[in-house]
Amino acid sequence: MKDTVTLITGAARGIGLATATLFHAEGRRVVLLDRDAEELATAAATLPGALSVTCDVSIPKQVAQALTEVEQSCGRLDILVNNAGVADFGPLAETDFARWRRVMDTNLDGVFLMSQACLPLLSARGGAIVNIASISGLRASTLRIAYGTSKAAVIHLTKQQAAELGEVGIRANCVCPGPVNTKLALAVHSPEIRAAYHDAIPLNRYGTEREIAEVICFLASERASFVTGQVVASDGGFDSTGVGLPALRT
Ligand SMILES: NC(=O)c1ccc[n+]([C@@H]2O[C@H](COP(=O)([O-])OP(=O)(O)OC[C@H]3O[C@@H](n4cnc5c(N)ncnc54)[C@H](O)[C@@H]3O)[C@@H](O)[C@H]2O)c1
Repeated sequence: MKDTVTLITGAARGIGLATATLFHAEGRRVVLLDRDAEELATAAATLPGALSVTCDVSIPKQVAQALTEVEQSCGRLDILVNNAGVADFGPLAETDFARWRRVMDTNLDGVFLMSQACLPLLSARGGAIVNIASISGLRASTLRIAYGTSKAAVIHLTKQQAAELGEVGIRANCVCPGPVNTKLALAVHSPEIRAAYHDAIPLNRYGTEREIAEVICFLASERASFVTGQVVASDGGFDSTGVGLPALRT
């Protein structure tokens, strides 16, 4: 396990950094990739031996350059976690094409581009891809016209990857987090949204970055060696409950 290399996108903070920290604690070599060079440097400094790569996952040239760096520095890749994501909540009428594209560029195109670029290294020994979608990709709601659609596409992209890449020994699975107090969530969750989430979630709280990272690490690990094409919600029960009316709580 010590020789294995894990690349995590959007690893400068939040769920990505928690995932990198957990893989690092398991003794794996980690590559932290993010477009925010400053925050990335601070994050990488906390994980001795980690490689940091500044890259925007939505820009093909930068993705190709990033993989060249990984190949030259590590010589192999075993696990890819497509975690980089942006959130932008707004109704259909106010989501102009630029806003739509901004969400799709990172959340969907980024997963496609990174997976494709990593394929030669991953398929050399067999490996695992874990894509991070969202409960917003499982359940439609207001204001998620772009975000929810991008995440639903990531869920299907995962299944496409599993169908196609099993033959070359690559497993692909998807984690759908519920709300977690990261910079991304703090920017789009108003106090009203936060209260409503508590009411709708059986565990009655937000998750932590670490709780999401644990699921990602399990799906990527050898312990999940016969699991591929699966979508796992780490969401406090939100996805499995249809009627979350506060008045129905005892
Ligand atoms: N926090 C939540 O409540 C929540 C819920 C469901 C799903 N998610 C998903 O989890 C993932 C991580 O979210 P988070 O909450 O940790 O967010 P975050 O904003 O704290 O971290 C996201 C990281 O991704 C990086 N990033 C964004 N766009 C990028 C790009 N194009 N190229 C490279 N790096 C880029 C950012 O710089 C940042 O470091 C996202 O895909 C998000 O959609 C989060």
